[in-house]
Order: sequence, then C-alpha cells, then structure tokens
Amino acid sequence: MNKNQIIVTGASGFLASNFCHLYKDEFEITGIFYSHKVGLANVKTISLDLTNKHATEEYIRANPPDGIIHLAALSNPNICELKTLDSFKTNVQATVILAEICADLDILFVFASTDLVFNGLNAPYAEEASTLPISTYGFHKVMAESKAMEIYPKSVICRLPLMYGHPYAHGESFLQPILRELKQNKHVTLFTDEYRTVISAREACIGLRLALELHGNLIHFGGKESYSRFEIGQKICDIFGFERSLLLPTRQIKVNMPARRPPDVSLTNRKARQLGWNPSDLLVELSMIKVEIEGGSDEL
Ligand SMILES: NC(=O)c1ccc[n+]([C@@H]2O[C@H](COP(=O)([O-])OP(=O)(O)OC[C@H]3O[C@@H](n4cnc5c(N)ncnc54)[C@H](OP(=O)(O)O)[C@@H]3O)[C@@H](O)[C@H]2O)c1
Repeated sequence: MNKNQIIVTGASGFLASNFCHLYKDEFEITGIFYSHKVGLANVKTISLDLTNKHATEEYIRANPPDGIIHLAALSNPNICELKTLDSFKTNVQATVILAEICADLDILFVFASTDLVFNGLNAPYAEEASTLPISTYGFHKVMAESKAMEIYPKSVICRLPLMYGHPYAHGESFLQPILRELKQNKHVTLFTDEYRTVISAREACIGLRLALELHGNLIHFGGKESYSRFEIGQKICDIFGFERSLLLPTRQIKVNMPARRPPDVSLTNRKARQLGWNPSDLLVELSMIKVEIEGGSDEL
C-alpha cells in the first residue's frame, strides 16, 4: 500500500524536525525549510520561502500531498515584537497562502498555534475561551487562526504550550540553553511567576498526528500539570543530575524584555484526551529525552 504523502513545514525547526523523526516511516514526508539546510533520515527536504505565494503555490500544485502540517513560524515572541512585519509575513501571510492552497486542492491542513493567544489572567484555558493576546506573536497567531478557519473551515488548529525535547535540526527548545549553562556550572535564572502546561515535542507530535485525522477543529494540547519555569528547571536539574542551587528565582517584573509575558497560560486537554491523546509526566518525559540526548543524533 502506498504511504500517505505529507508536507511538513518548518523542517529545520525544533518541532517539525521531531515530527519528521517520529513519523518518517509511517508517511512519505517532504520537509520544507527556509534558511537552514537540513538532512533528516528518510525525509525529502526542500527550501521554500512560504511567504512567497507564487513559489509556494507552484511547488504544492506540482506536488500535491494528502496533507500539510504547518509548523513554520517566526516563533520567538521577542523577535516578533521587534520585527512586526516579519512576524506578520511569516506567521499570518504564509498561513493564509497555505490555507488557500489546501482549500483549493481539498488537502488536510493542520496548523500549530500557541497558548500565547491568551493574556494569562484566567487560566486554565479551554477551546471556548476568548483569545486576548498581549504580544505581537500572540496577536499574529490569533489572526492566522481566524484567517485559516475563514479561508478553509476544514483546517485543524492545534494550540500548543511551551515545549521541550531533543532537537533533530537547527531549532532548539528552551531545554538546550538551560542544559548548556548548567553543564558549565553557571547559574540559570528562571521565572517563578510564569506558568505553562508544558509538553514534550514527542507528545506534541502525537497530538499533531491525531489532528491529521480530523476536519475543522480547534484543540488544546495542555500538559498533565502546570509548572512555573523555575519548577521546570528544578525537574531538569533532578533528571540531568545538576544541583538545584544553580537555579536562581526571578519574577517577570524584574526582567525587561521586548514582548510582554502572560503570567499563566495553562491549557486544558479534555478534548485532546477524548481523541486519545494522553500527556505523560514531566519527569518521565525528561528521562526519555535524557536517553535520547545521550544516544546522540546524526540527523543535523
Ligand atoms: N517551541 C515552542 O515551545 C512552541 C510553543 C507553542 C507553539 N509553538 C509553535 O509551534 C510551531 C513550531 O515551533 P518551533 O519551536 O519548532 O519553531 P522553530 O524551531 O523556530 O522553527 C521555525 C521554522 O520555520 C521556518 N521558517 C521561518 N520562516 C520561513 C519562511 N519564510 N518560509 C519557510 N519556512 C520558514 C524555519 O526555517 P529556517 O530555520 O530554515 O529558516 C524553521 O524551520 C510554530 O508554529 C510555533 O509558533 C512553539
């Protein structure tokens, strides 16, 4: 039997490279990167600027897949705040272009959004909650969500929380800079007043895989529990064998950053669980990632 063909955008990024790694044998995957060339085992990769409508249409029409998982983004909220036009082009315009193509060709369209569509004052957030972003990144993701749904009601929007894991390409999670500092015996300063229902990239990819079976949906993939960044740091120390005393607590108000940060954007997961998604324990996932990291990767 022929495998389903899917295009995964953002293949050089953190999440998409994990998706390609996890599902390379189940699907015939074409991974789209932009500026960072990537080699992923058993995945065809091509470079494409998704903000270029003509080039994107030309490629996809010539190579129509069964589905597109759209994970390319300008994903750093501080950069989005400083480069608003770039954020609009990458986070909104590229999504609109892909939604239009998928609508036209009747292709499955799964799109990654974020918990930062909320202001963080009324957690936990279910799918019915009204969005109220406080950063350019969050605002552009809300725009992208509503435009995708308007253009192509069969789109599936997956709101993902903060994620951690082992990178299989250029993009990293917040775990890597923390580990780099701890390995050098340096202190790491983390917020005690910023809460997220974190999940691993593996868990997120399982959610995205489930989303491929759906039509026209919005799903929150909140992790099993909500933790502050400082608490996550403590678990990282415990699993990776570093002294907790290397962690220094701080509060959002004490750190000046371009993008405003919501205090608690914890997401619910009732709908995702009903679909069969089952988030695991943070300590269990971190232990698996430690094994993955120690095993190394030749896919960069
Ligand atoms: N990471 C998190 O904790 C988190 C949390 C919630 C939601 N999300 C969402 O999940 C998705 C994946 O995030 P991530 O952390 O994996 O992102 P990432 O590591 O920053 O990767 C971004 C990807 O987008 C690609 N890209 C950027 N501009 C492009 C363009 N014009 N044309 C084609 N590709 C372009 C990049 O390609 P090059 O590098 O080759 O230029 C890269 O592969 C994003 O939608 C993000 O908003 C992430």
